[in-house]
Amino acid sequence: MTEIIDRADVALILADPRFLVPEADAAAPTPFERFRADVSRFSNGAVHDARRRRLESMLAGIELAALARTAASLTRTALEAEPAPSVATVARHVPVTALGMQLGFRQAESLPPLAAEIADAYSSGRVTDAAAADTATMRLLDSAPGTDAPDDALLVQLLVQAYAATGALVERAMQRLAASGPLPPATHDLLTATLRDDSPVPMTRRVAPDHSAGASGPDVQQGALLVLRLDGPDRDATDDRPPRTLAFGAGHRGCPAPHHALAIAVAIVEELRRAEARAGIHRTNEETIDVDAR
Ligand code: HEM
Repeated sequence: MTEIIDRADVALILADPRFLVPEADAAAPTPFERFRADVSRFSNGAVHDARRRRLESMLAGIELAALARTAASLTRTALEAEPAPSVATVARHVPVTALGMQLGFRQAESLPPLAAEIADAYSSGRVTDAAAADTATMRLLDSAPGTDAPDDALLVQLLVQAYAATGALVERAMQRLAASGPLPPATHDLLTATLRDDSPVPMTRRVAPDHSAGASGPDVQQGALLVLRLDGPDRDATDDRPPRTLAFGAGHRGCPAPHHALAIAVAIVEELRRAEARAGIHRTNEETIDVDAR
């Protein structure tokens, strides 16, 4: 395994279609392994292109404003619960539920724990509890609204892809906000800075082609498994030029849903900020009452 750290090198590799993704096993017998083999993320060539086009048309069917309203409303409802859930829980549950609702899944509220069950193994291919992963996969596929199996797998892929990445973006943005001092940034700027400086998806993988030593790209061994850091340094950055943002990947395999991710994240962060501001006012009132009572 070779790790490529500099964003300038990573950007060149992501833009080069000769670098393929490690493929899932198309002959795999278990539901979870089959699901990995049926999505776009772990396929190459014409199969990837066709699945990607289908995903793009599914995503185009979602109205961003409606997605944002759903995410905001789910966040408000979650924050009314006693005891209030953690930011991490809200950040991971709301994106999957909101997308599930917009995509027509049945019982969308039940989907986040199922996505959580397979999210790690989905990206790494390493399953720790195969039976639990299979059960979660089957339940996700059963809840999908598609009329055919290929569409169901792609719809479930959207939920699983959204789960950890959007959750991490919201969580890291809230941490950044807490550390931001007396002049907190606007939510959109906060999220843009988080994506640039603290990539929610820290790395992805590619396999080097047979003749990969290009004129401008890094020199890597033929057939090597490459880990591409999306959060490394950028040798082209200067005082006037910030590092490239690679959080959504790049090229023909880059995230097809950055606008969806941002619509959801803005909605959640705004609601969390409002709730914090209300709690702050509440605390201030209590302190005032305390002072008056003395
Ligand atoms: C902040 C949130 C998100 C981040 C940082 C993120 C990041 C990424 C990255 C880096 C990749 C490319 C991986 C690679 O090149 O190997 C990717 C792919 C993908 N993402 Fe996202 N993503 C986010 C949210 C979402 C959401 C909300 C959805 C669905 C609505 C989604 C759907 C996908 C899909 C389907 C792919 C695979 C594309 C393909 O196979 O061509 N992502 N994402």
